[in-house]
Amino acid sequence: MEGSKAAGRKKLVGSAFVFALCYVVFILFILLMIVINNPGSWKDYFRQDYSRFLSLCICALLLFYIVYYYFYFEDKEFLMSIRNVFMIFSIITLSVLTCYLFGRFVSIFARPMALLALLCLFVFNRRQAILLNFVFSLLLFVIDTYTDNFSASMGVGAEAGAHVEVYFSLMLGFVCGTFAVLTAGNVKTRGGMLLLGTFIAVPTVIIILLLELPAIYGNSGWIAYVASAGFGILGCFLSSALTLCFLPVFEFVFNRLTVFRLRELTSANMPLIKRLRTEAPGTFNHSLIVAQLAETCAIALGENAELARAAAYYHDVGKLKQPDCFTENQTGYNLHDELTPELSADIIRSHTTDGYDLLIAARLPKELADVAREHHGTLPIKFFYDKAMRLSGGDANIKDYSYLGPTPHSKIAAIIMIADASEAAARTLKERTPENVERVVRSIIEERMDLDQFVDCDITMRELTTVKTTIVEALSGVHHHRVKYPSIRFNRDRQVVKEEPDEK
Ligand SMILES: [Fe+2]
Ligand SMILES: [Fe+2]
Repeated sequence: MEGSKAAGRKKLVGSAFVFALCYVVFILFILLMIVINNPGSWKDYFRQDYSRFLSLCICALLLFYIVYYYFYFEDKEFLMSIRNVFMIFSIITLSVLTCYLFGRFVSIFARPMALLALLCLFVFNRRQAILLNFVFSLLLFVIDTYTDNFSASMGVGAEAGAHVEVYFSLMLGFVCGTFAVLTAGNVKTRGGMLLLGTFIAVPTVIIILLLELPAIYGNSGWIAYVASAGFGILGCFLSSALTLCFLPVFEFVFNRLTVFRLRELTSANMPLIKRLRTEAPGTFNHSLIVAQLAETCAIALGENAELARAAAYYHDVGKLKQPDCFTENQTGYNLHDELTPELSADIIRSHTTDGYDLLIAARLPKELADVAREHHGTLPIKFFYDKAMRLSGGDANIKDYSYLGPTPHSKIAAIIMIADASEAAARTLKERTPENVERVVRSIIEERMDLDQFVDCDITMRELTTVKTTIVEALSGVHHHRVKYPSIRFNRDRQVVKEEPDEK
């Protein structure tokens, strides 16, 4: 216990150091921007009043300090990963850079102000996206205020006065970013992402038109007023389009799971899914039903439904090593009839660790690999334990006939553990009535609770009841009784020619 605490403290100190390092790199990046933007006169910027740059550094430091302490109190585990710290800074630096480029060469209103919020929403989560967007808006405001770089390139709105324009970054960033986070929750397709640009454009145009109202009475007049709104709409579409461009890069470089990647992972063209379909068709069909059950349960618990679906697709991928050793892929011949129960149990239980290794080797997300390893926990393999007891006259060690674990560490792994066993058990039922399915699912959950399979995940009794109800409803639906068809057949002239036995 003390050892793990010390390791955690060490990781936090490490991430604080990386945070400080990233801050220095960020300041150097801003310095570089100043030099590039004014190649001939950047020295004047420091000569005239170096305290402005110092103010920028201090304000940026305070903002990064807020980010660090937010994660320190809210999500220490997130902060412990240096990869996450790098990711936060990469997204902030990238967003500042794109805002600089579009503000400098197009218009200040064309800056993709919702880009950071959208990237953080898909790469992290909603709460973190709102916090980081707030900090980013303030950061851009600080940069705009203490450098001439962004305000010098404002173009269209320059007449309204530089002190007004810098507030755009604050207002637009905060409102558009937050609006984007709140409306993008249900976006699951790339088309939907582009459509999101239209929704963000509404508050953007309202803010621009209100803040630019004095410009009508200036030299620019109506044309500049309308152009500002047009550039604002462009900025919103840029936010959506650039999110689509940069997301795959973050998915690949930081091996992050986004809704788009999870959807791709369940595509029929994924190599492991293809193999499962051709080499282990029984397992593939079983995985499809488990995926359907897991997705429904995840929705009922408010968990990530896409992750549950993808994890269920891959949960039994370890069976690819010896597909014929598993009942669902056998057609008559059973290899286990020729093996000792100990060897059979060894083959069966190794499909969890084989699945984990296969998924890690294929560079698939660790979240999926963890579910593959945990979905049987430390449960006994009843069939072969019973066989061993019979053959040895009661001399069999239960540990030799149990899965190696670990037990589920997430709600999704727990859901898949229950859905997996329920699907298999429902197949054996002669009468698939809701009462029978309920009895089987209840006994599956109770047995796993008795065997301490849920002690490492934070699933509650209430959630287990919800999982049970959802699975019973879904399985009763999947295995509904068909209407009995009349035993007749038609010929080409649509006349009854002969009677056939009922289809079973
Ligand atoms: Fe399995
Ligand atoms: Fe399974």
